[in-house]
Amino acid sequence: MEKLEWNEKYSVGVKALDEQHKVIFDLINALSDLENITVFSEELADALTKLMNYLVEHFNLEEKYMREYKYPRYDIQVTQHKKFKKQILKFNLDTIRYKPSVPEDLLEYLKQWFVNHILEEDMLYRDFFIEKGLK
Ligand SMILES: [Fe+2]
Repeated sequence: MEKLEWNEKYSVGVKALDEQHKVIFDLINALSDLENITVFSEELADALTKLMNYLVEHFNLEEKYMREYKYPRYDIQVTQHKKFKKQILKFNLDTIRYKPSVPEDLLEYLKQWFVNHILEEDMLYRDFFIEKGLK
């Protein structure tokens, strides 16, 4: 499966958030690097937990900035983050049930969601935060 590579087109103009987005790309790549992974792999549960913890941290920081600066699309962002967290929870449950398609479906979902979320939704706060002086 193709790897995620961060480049300038993903930059949301806020250094701390760009750095976190890079780490998330790395975590997703690490997950896709696991060889012969199946729903029974212990590494899958570990990688999922690690990723989830980091994501929650990331969403919290992003949402904190949005509240601080009264970002108008705050509610939309929170809803999207919630939906995403719910979907990951579903993958966790499917892992417990040993649904065989989990590793592949999960990776596909992570990659698609992240790339789309950054390019379509996060990018909308870029100019807003720059204007507010957040770097
Ligand atoms: Fe976001």
